[in-house]
Amino acid sequence: MKKILVTGGLGFIGSHTVVELVQAGYEPVIIDDLSNSHISILDQLTTILGFKPQFHQVDLCDEAAVKNLATSIADVTGIIHFAAFKAVGESVAHPLKYYRNNFYSLINLLNAYYGKPLNFVFSSSCTVYGQPDNLPVTEDAPVKAAQSPYGNTKQIAEEILQDMIASGANYKVVSLRYFNPVGAHKSALIGELPIGVPQNLVPFITQTAIGKREKVTVFGNDYNTPDGSCIRDYIHVVDLAKAHVAALKYMEEESFKGYDVFNIGTGKGTSVLEVVNAFERTTGVKFAWSIGPRRDGDVEQVWGDVTKSTEVLKWKAELDVDTMMASAWEWEKAIANKPL
Ligand code: UD1
Repeated sequence: MKKILVTGGLGFIGSHTVVELVQAGYEPVIIDDLSNSHISILDQLTTILGFKPQFHQVDLCDEAAVKNLATSIADVTGIIHFAAFKAVGESVAHPLKYYRNNFYSLINLLNAYYGKPLNFVFSSSCTVYGQPDNLPVTEDAPVKAAQSPYGNTKQIAEEILQDMIASGANYKVVSLRYFNPVGAHKSALIGELPIGVPQNLVPFITQTAIGKREKVTVFGNDYNTPDGSCIRDYIHVVDLAKAHVAALKYMEEESFKGYDVFNIGTGKGTSVLEVVNAFERTTGVKFAWSIGPRRDGDVEQVWGDVTKSTEVLKWKAELDVDTMMASAWEWEKAIANKPL
């Protein structure tokens, strides 16, 4: 069985990817420092999988610890590198924390396994496009000046990986530019676990609907969009998880060499107000919301052209916004009934 290191494997996207890897016949080895995840997710994964996946608590910023890891788990064929800080606002307030964590971990990992013929999947983001000039945005659209240190870490990490490949390193690398991952596994055993007040739309909605928050503010209704609210390409986290398996399979092809990048979205834009309506319609649960001012740094609208990922990775998102809302709600109710 091919062994895949999954850094950040107890996080939101990481945990869902662990499930898809096992279903596809891979052996995931979870690495997580538990800085933004919960150890009980390991038990939840055990319930879903029917066995306990291998887990190591490692801080990837600790160079010696990562070297030890690469020595003790040397027989991996791939690495999926999720582990990173991802809160845009926090990154503006604490840039060094973001640059330190997101770069040290990436460089330590690449160095520790350097020389091995590994397939490396990097978690990038559509944030690299800023506000694109043309929609849907394709992978060859220009990368825009980053709006936050978080976004900058994604842009620079993509450059680091490309420079490494250009230097003749033995790795194969795919960067996946995620659009907006939401939803949860159909078992409602794993899902998004925001620490503190959620910054992202869907967890804010589910926490409001369950009574943890008073009200959702829709950040602006005066944008140049059909209903005035911002538009994003929301993608179900299970579809996103499957894209990682597709990326590994693509890299396993002899013909693939070097570096490639893919948009991972649905190819459809959905406005904030449409998300609010979809949640209320699908779950039958109404919650308090109102229109507020725009949020600093928000792009008006972005959704992805997914032609390349469909044709080359032979992967396509299948789950719609209603399924995303229903599964996110089932997860919120599950953790309210049985806190982790
Ligand atoms: C952004 C980045 C994404 C990054 C993510 C990390 C872009 C285009 N996307 O996502 O790459 O991975 O941050 O957190 O830069 N909204 C409300 N009320 C709320 C919360 C959000 O109206 O309480 C709106 C926002 O204005 C936005 C949409 O909902 O239009 C989605 O927001 P959010 O979930 O925070 O994700 P992005 O900002 O799109």
